Amino acid sequence: MCGIIGYCGGKQALPLLLQGLKRLEYRGYDSVGVALVEPNGKLAIFKSTGRMDDLAAAIDPGARGTLGIGHTRWATHGKPSHENAHPHLDCSSGGVAVVHNGIVENYRELKTGLERAGHRFTSQTDSEVIPHLLEEQLAHGATLEEALRRAGAMLRGAHAIVAVSAASPDTMVGLRIGHAGGLAVGYAEGAVFFASDVPAIQGEAERVLHLVSGEMAVARGGQAHVTTLEGAPVHRRAVSLSRDALSAAKGPYKHFMLKEIMEQPETLVSALRDRIDFQDMRISLDGFPFDAEQVRSFDRVVLVGMGTSFHAVQVGRMFIERLAHMPAEAENASEYRYRDPVVSPKTLLVTVGQSGETVDTLVAMAEAKQRGLPIVTVCNVAGSEATRAADYALLVQAGPEVAVASTKTYVGSLACLYLLAAYLGQERGSLSKDRLRGVIEDAVLLPNLMGQALEQTERYETIAWRYAHAQSALVLGRGLNYPTAMEGALKLKEVSYMHAEGYPAGEMKHGPIALIDEHTPVIAVALRDRLREKMLSAIEQVRARDGRVIAIATAGDEEMAQKATDVVYVPEAPELLTPLLAVVPLQLLAYYIAVRRGADVDQPRNLAKTVTVE
Ligand code: AGP
Repeated sequence: MCGIIGYCGGKQALPLLLQGLKRLEYRGYDSVGVALVEPNGKLAIFKSTGRMDDLAAAIDPGARGTLGIGHTRWATHGKPSHENAHPHLDCSSGGVAVVHNGIVENYRELKTGLERAGHRFTSQTDSEVIPHLLEEQLAHGATLEEALRRAGAMLRGAHAIVAVSAASPDTMVGLRIGHAGGLAVGYAEGAVFFASDVPAIQGEAERVLHLVSGEMAVARGGQAHVTTLEGAPVHRRAVSLSRDALSAAKGPYKHFMLKEIMEQPETLVSALRDRIDFQDMRISLDGFPFDAEQVRSFDRVVLVGMGTSFHAVQVGRMFIERLAHMPAEAENASEYRYRDPVVSPKTLLVTVGQSGETVDTLVAMAEAKQRGLPIVTVCNVAGSEATRAADYALLVQAGPEVAVASTKTYVGSLACLYLLAAYLGQERGSLSKDRLRGVIEDAVLLPNLMGQALEQTERYETIAWRYAHAQSALVLGRGLNYPTAMEGALKLKEVSYMHAEGYPAGEMKHGPIALIDEHTPVIAVALRDRLREKMLSAIEQVRARDGRVIAIATAGDEEMAQKATDVVYVPEAPELLTPLLAVVPLQLLAYYIAVRRGADVDQPRNLAKTVTVE
């Protein structure tokens, strides 16, 4: 997860930028950098691959400037190099500096065009195309604002961008497209801030306006002018900035759960971006301790987790089978440890956990370690017990998850498992170069698709209220989305206290169908995939018994809308990645049903975020 800060006003910018970056420290980072527009009209750039103290040591104490931008790059296992750290610069004049959060989906195509036009690239990142695009536009006479507008129109994917140029020493521009993390414009007396997170400018800015997708802001002379990308003025009012840290952390959301659901596009950016080498189109898991020969020697993969993480490993098992072509099993950690499983030192154990402190998972790891198994953990909390116990920690990097019910960590864990499976396939040579490229190209679409899946939350609210009085529900899915159904049922139980069971749809007629009546809604994950017809039959069987069905369908599937009582759509996506998107309606339905039922959404009764007892 990356943090962005910018300042344009009458004070010296550097201390404010460093303060903002320090406040973004809770997100963790592996590199940090600032660009300052100096009074002599030049850019001063300071970067460090270490922590804030290292950056402070790298800064010229004489550096001055009242306009500047800063960035923290979160990538514990990415390539934390000086060249890859933001701000990124253009090449000819070095006069444009950009900080970016997001993934440029059409990076290769843009880079090829820019290289043909003579641009030279110095990093392995996709972000670097942005300053070169700006440079190109500026060379054609555009102002910085026009340049960003035109460059923004060329980028595919979701982005938050802030840019400065030595040629416009009084101007800072920012843009938001899609949902790759927020971008707020902060207003202070005679100054304007940009910030990815409001706490970064708390106490400095008095009012704040959150840019929505397709909006940009130009800061100059202590004022900010906000428009759409097309140039139409935006008249939304900035709101007063609360001084209460907790409500600031919740942003505009009533509950952390909703905030964390809405953060999922950014979660995907964080999980993916520093693990993809866009230059060579390979997965790059820095520090992975097993070389290709060892990876080839693994005879199977056993994945374990609990609760939501157990559902993640069930999807992960299918990723491993399809991408690494290896036998894989998914187990509930508390069962696994007492089963005396048949394993060998060639069995790779993969554990998944938000907290990294779940005792059942830790004990399974300890036993595996005793038997000499190599262990990889997918975990959200750096430094947790699981990350210390594993041979390799693939950090989810979703940032703190405050709500007890896991949402963004689930989606982030799935993205990590997808990368891990592709990495194993890449190292074992079981994924062809072309297929690997396709796998990566599919992955980079995810943040934007997730943004689309999160549109129209009001629709979920309306549907949820219609079903909020039900005592029980069935959630059905098949194949890749059978674990999605179980995760949806768990969310309903956890936050709305509605009894819900997740079933593979084919199982319904073997018993659960006896529960169907007009009072027991069925939620069916019925996407346009190879099992769509089977799901359609299950829906018809429910409808024939007066059951009500909420179908989660692929955008444009009109037939599903006719067959079901209610339908919600998720965007069309590569089949393997559908579990990351189809879970979103289930999270939102559970959330809104819980709100309707007056439940304590963020801290449901009887639950704990970290379960350290058996
Ligand atoms: C998820 O919403 C729950 N909080 C719970 O099922 C959780 O996933 C489980 O306790 C495992 O926790 P972990 O991911 O931290 O290991």
